Amino acid sequence: MSRKSPITNLLFFLLIFLFAFSAAGKSRSHHPRRPCRHLVFYFHDIIYNGENAENATSAIVGAPAWGNTTILAGQNHFGDMVVFDDPITMDNNLHSPAVGRAQGFYIYDRKEIFTAWLGFSFVFNSTEHRGSLNFAGADPLMNKTRDVSVIGGTGDFFMARGIATLSTDSFEGEVYFRLRADINLYECW
Ligand SMILES: *[C@@H]1O[C@H](CO)[C@@H](O)[C@H](O)[C@H]1NC(C)=O
Ligand SMILES: *[C@@H]1O[C@H](CO)[C@@H](O)[C@H](O)[C@H]1NC(C)=O
Ligand SMILES: *[C@@H]1O[C@H](CO)[C@@H](O)[C@H](O)[C@H]1NC(C)=O
Ligand SMILES: *[C@@H]1O[C@H](CO)[C@@H](O)[C@H](O)[C@H]1NC(C)=O
Repeated sequence: MSRKSPITNLLFFLLIFLFAFSAAGKSRSHHPRRPCRHLVFYFHDIIYNGENAENATSAIVGAPAWGNTTILAGQNHFGDMVVFDDPITMDNNLHSPAVGRAQGFYIYDRKEIFTAWLGFSFVFNSTEHRGSLNFAGADPLMNKTRDVSVIGGTGDFFMARGIATLSTDSFEGEVYFRLRADINLYECW
């Protein structure tokens, strides 16, 4: 009577097997770490320098007490805040047709090294894309690539989330720089 039947044994092992399997399933991510969408854009920042008001796409709007809003301050521009409305292009040419605008601000936030904090949106109103993508994060400028968060989107990018890998594609004497944004979305609707 105390001897278990082979059927009971089989059920027991089946149960253990199922349990182990479901535990292994849980430890795996529900979202595979593969992007659902990949996009590459360039945006072009021409900083006002006291002489280029016509072309400038960005302006210093805040400076520390020891600086001014015409020229970026010393000590790695610490304390300067810049507002921008930059054209976005599909390639690295400033004069290519713009597919949207990169709009937002950056704050230089360390005296010791050249680094910034970025908060901006890509605003699209073209035949390719309509809507916006919103970005935020630290931008350690001396690094070849920097990852910032894609924290949301609207329109064609409804509820988008992901990572944008930024790299400085060109840097010309504190007047012009061009960033390449390599965007991988991990949430797409
Ligand atoms: C700014 O605009 C002027 C006049 O259109 C042009 O000559 C100059 O090259 C432009 N500068 C830049 C940096 O694009
Ligand atoms: C602004 O600051 C820069 C350097 O920090 C200086 O060369 C320039 O003369 C200042 N301009 C004004 C208008 O104060
Ligand atoms: C987007 O483009 C359309 C067509 O060119 C225009 O009617 C509309 O006002 C634009 N919207 C914005 C927010 O710029
Ligand atoms: C950025 O560069 C610094 C110094 O070269 C390095 O220590 C750091 O790990 C880099 N950060 C990232 C996110 O790559």
